[in-house]
Parts: sequence; C-alpha cells; structure tokens
Amino acid sequence: MATTTITEKLASTTIADKAPVDPQPYDYSKLERYVHPPETEEKLNWAELVTLDLEDYNREGGKERLAKQLEHAVHHVGFFYVKNYGLSQEEVDDQFTLAKHFFALPVDKKAKYECNYAAADYNGWRRNGRRLDHRGFDNVEIYNIPKFTKDFEGEYGQPDLLKAHLPEIEHFSKTLHNNVVLPLLRLFAIILQLPDEDYLVNQHSYEKKSEDHFRYMLYRKRTEEQWEASGGGLNNGHTDLGTVTLLFRQPIAGLQILGEDGNWTWVSAQPGTITVNLADTISHLTGGWLKSSVHRVVTPPRDQWAYDRTGLLYFARPHNETVLNPILDSPVLQKAGVKPRFEKPVTMEEWVKAKQTLQLNPEIAAKRWAEAGDGTVEVLAGFRDRKYKA
Ligand SMILES: [Fe+2]
Repeated sequence: MATTTITEKLASTTIADKAPVDPQPYDYSKLERYVHPPETEEKLNWAELVTLDLEDYNREGGKERLAKQLEHAVHHVGFFYVKNYGLSQEEVDDQFTLAKHFFALPVDKKAKYECNYAAADYNGWRRNGRRLDHRGFDNVEIYNIPKFTKDFEGEYGQPDLLKAHLPEIEHFSKTLHNNVVLPLLRLFAIILQLPDEDYLVNQHSYEKKSEDHFRYMLYRKRTEEQWEASGGGLNNGHTDLGTVTLLFRQPIAGLQILGEDGNWTWVSAQPGTITVNLADTISHLTGGWLKSSVHRVVTPPRDQWAYDRTGLLYFARPHNETVLNPILDSPVLQKAGVKPRFEKPVTMEEWVKAKQTLQLNPEIAAKRWAEAGDGTVEVLAGFRDRKYKA
C-alpha cells in the first residue's frame, strides 16, 4: 500500500483550517517525549473495579459474557476499566506527548484558542484559575477538540503543533468512538434487554451532530501551601454530563469515586486500561437506572507532588436532538418503574448548554447555587445537581 504523506493526510481531515502548516518541526523525533511519572508508594483505599476485555466482544457469546460482567458495575458503581481497545501504547503516549507540548505553549499562544465561556462553548482552551476553590484558584487547564465532522469544519482553529498531527488525533478519537463507546452502548442495550441492540448506538452515530469531544487536561503540580489553599478538591464531587467519559491511564493518584456506602475510594492506574465512567445523559435515558457516578479529583499522595498530572479523555454524548426521557421498551426499566427526570421534554442540546453554562461561568454558577441555599442548583426543567462534600 502506498504511504500517505502528512500533507496529504492533513488535506483529508475535516476540521483543519486550510492554512498550510509545515509539519517537520512538530515531528515526534523533534518533540521531547512525555514520560509517565512513577506510581505512588502509599497504601490507599483503592476501589475494586471490574475490567472488561474488549477483545472478547467479537468472540462467540462474548457480548453476553461482557454484559453479565458489567451489569452490577453500571447499576451500582458507575465506574469500570476496559482493555484491548485497538490503540497501541505508543499511539496513546504520542497523545500524551502532544498534550505536554500543547500546555507548554506560552499563554498568549493558547489564548488564541480560548473557549467562548459566555456561549457555553467548551471547545478550545480553558485557562487555569477561573474557579475559586476554597481560598485558592484552580490549577486546571483543558483543551477540547470536537468531532471530526462537517458540523465543526472550520469552526475551531488549531495551533500548528496540533494541526501537524490532526490526522492522528482524528484516528485516535474515531477509534475510541468505534472500539469503545459503541460496543459499550450495545452492552448497555443487552443489560436493559432492549429489543434492538443498536438502540443506543443509533443515538450516537459519529457523523450526526453531537457534542462528543477529545480532551487534553493538565493539573499542574502545586506546593503544600497551594494544595492547602485549594481545599484539596474535597468539595468538588460531581457527575459528568454526557453518556460515558473515557479516561486514559496515568499514574498520578487523585481520582476518587463515591460509593453507595457513602465512602470515597481511589481509582488506581491499571496498565493498558481506560477508566470509564457513566455520566448524566445515560442516566437520564434510563431514569437513573444506569448510574452517573459521583467523583472528584483530590490532592495526590505526597510522593507525587513533584509531578504534573496530565490527562487524556474522550467524552461521548448522544445526538443533540435526542430527547432525554427514559427508554420505554426496556423490560428492566419497566420493572424498575423509572420516571422522567425532567418536568418537560429536554433535548441533549438544551442539557449541554444548561450544564456547561454553570461549569464554564463561575460567577453565574455561584449566583445560581446561592438561589436555593440548600446545596443544590436547578440545572434545567426541575432537575437539580447537588454538592457532594467530604
Ligand atoms: Fe468528571
């Protein structure tokens, strides 16, 4: 097969703006590689999570086996791992390398791609320090890249570093969608005993307009005083807003999940896995039966304080037009007697806008949280989020 040049590949990607970029300075041979920091030596209270081997998915009876393995996790825990998802460790580490070099760009370069916070548009760069946590400002930077479809063509510029690697980023994102998100949605359908195994898949086709996105994320290292001023993330328990969140293995401990027993446990870094958590939308579509898990990121163990915590994530969401009412033809949901979680029909597009307005605009969020005064906020049509404290 003839090899495609990087320039030809760039010409074929959908969201690239057409201004040419010289890819040579951004070749991996010229970029200092990202190196995973060492794991903690501390004994932490680790969560026990199931690991799905996606290689089993296409074998005879594999889907049914995996669905069985997953059932308790999606109804009671909301977190699990997947492995064998069709991307090599080298491809994953390449993305960590791009994240490292993106966040190392000067602020004025990144500012060119800054999110339009007021429009609740999260694609682009979210700068650190926007949110006051306790007595100090957050230290989190995010860069979100939308789906590679016509809907987003020309909408978002990319710095040359990423422009030079867009074909790989596109391949990476689409592989996650096809090899992880869609198979998981079929497993959920089997668990819900839906007559059509593709019911949820049909609400998540890659080509149709939706707000899925790929993310680089950075929690910069902090001093003891800075960790203390931040409140250590203890009050930042939350649920994610989409269908599922995929989080690549990285060694800095920090992620904790809230169990049904009210205790927080740590999520460990299992080699070769992606951590998956269920989020609000899949919970809305099942009247809360599939569990949108509460989680937070806290101060890492002391032996990891010298390191930045770099994240690679993929957020899956249904089509914008999807109405977030419980699915009717699931015997499991019928038996459970689930109810809609909104007072009126709400579309995915409306839900994203409502929740992102709160997430991206701390001033608006502070005002709205203060309205009820009981530690809850109405996100939309009677559905309330609440604070999950230490
Ligand atoms: Fe989250």
